[in-house]
Amino acid sequence: MRDLANPLKVIEILSDGHFHSGEELASIFGITRAGINKYIKVIRQWGIELSSVQGKGYQLAYPLNLLNEQKITHYYLQKSSQPVALDIIPVINSTNQYLLDNLAELSSGNACVAEFQQAGRGRRGRQWFSPFGSNLYLSLYWRLEQGPAAAMGLSLMIGIVVAKVLRELSGQDIKVKWPNDLYLDDKKLAGILVEIAGKAGDIAHVVMGMGINLNMHNPDSGIVNQAWSNLGNIDRNLLVANLLYHLRQALVCFEKQGFAAFLAEWNPLDNFANRPVKLIIGETVIKGVARGINQQGALLLEQNGQITPYIGGEISLRADN
Ligand code: ATP
Ligand code: BTN
Repeated sequence: MRDLANPLKVIEILSDGHFHSGEELASIFGITRAGINKYIKVIRQWGIELSSVQGKGYQLAYPLNLLNEQKITHYYLQKSSQPVALDIIPVINSTNQYLLDNLAELSSGNACVAEFQQAGRGRRGRQWFSPFGSNLYLSLYWRLEQGPAAAMGLSLMIGIVVAKVLRELSGQDIKVKWPNDLYLDDKKLAGILVEIAGKAGDIAHVVMGMGINLNMHNPDSGIVNQAWSNLGNIDRNLLVANLLYHLRQALVCFEKQGFAAFLAEWNPLDNFANRPVKLIIGETVIKGVARGINQQGALLLEQNGQITPYIGGEISLRADN
């Protein structure tokens, strides 16, 4: 942590948006300019863009609204009397992995949020681009007593809840995309990754992770190889508090009633409802018109007047333009 503490402190100093000279930073840390250069290099590796101007020093290229425990707690307690139960870890491999590594100590509702993920992941081993401070990386743990089968439709329910929270805070037309994405302007705004530990017939330990793009600039095109969008300026601490509150409420309901309680909310939010789409399943491409989903969370595809349900983690849905 010692290695990370000083670069993190530099970020905090720069987060006021002003220029700070190398000499000034060197004197704050009691080290040489060369030492400060090392911190600056680390910060840049975390995906923060800095401008450096001769005679003036360093300045953030884009403003940062850092995660702050007091602010999150303040917003959360305006809605709930429960403790916020959140670990804020600025630099982490993956918030999902962190919870999976600590299952024995977790209770339903425990969560983790990070500023930067070194190994953020999507479905099927894909990478999730996670630059420092510009987006949101949040994971939440829940224990499903009825076992893994009870998680049916869970990622769809999370999509609905997150879409509603983002709509309320931003006033924008956020949509859901089957099975695990949020879309804005027909482009990927956020991804949801549900990971389950536990055998059939046993209790399921469920970790639900979400990555939401807020102010991402210049993503690595080797990782983000599809159209993407940003939500824009939003109070990240308020967003964390609202997400945690509404997700926890929804999970209590989901535990009792399953996905059926949320089904009616999907269609009005569905980005591809009644649009020509293609389903990509390995090498196979199936074309049709998307007609929403059923109670099992299966995608309904219409072909020649006939509707077929499709379910399973290996399917990718795309517009058929
Ligand atoms: P599917 O429809 O199967 O979910 P997908 O291509 O969206 O397909 P996912 O595994 O859900 O795949 O998400 C990972 C993909 O998301 C990556 O391959 C990349 O193209 C994209 N991606 C990675 N990071 C980001 C990001 N920060 N914002 C938007 N898209 C991203
Ligand atoms: C996807 O679209 O495939 C899902 C992407 C999920 C990314 C989030 S970011 C927080 C959590 N931690 C991870 O490593 N992944 C999820």
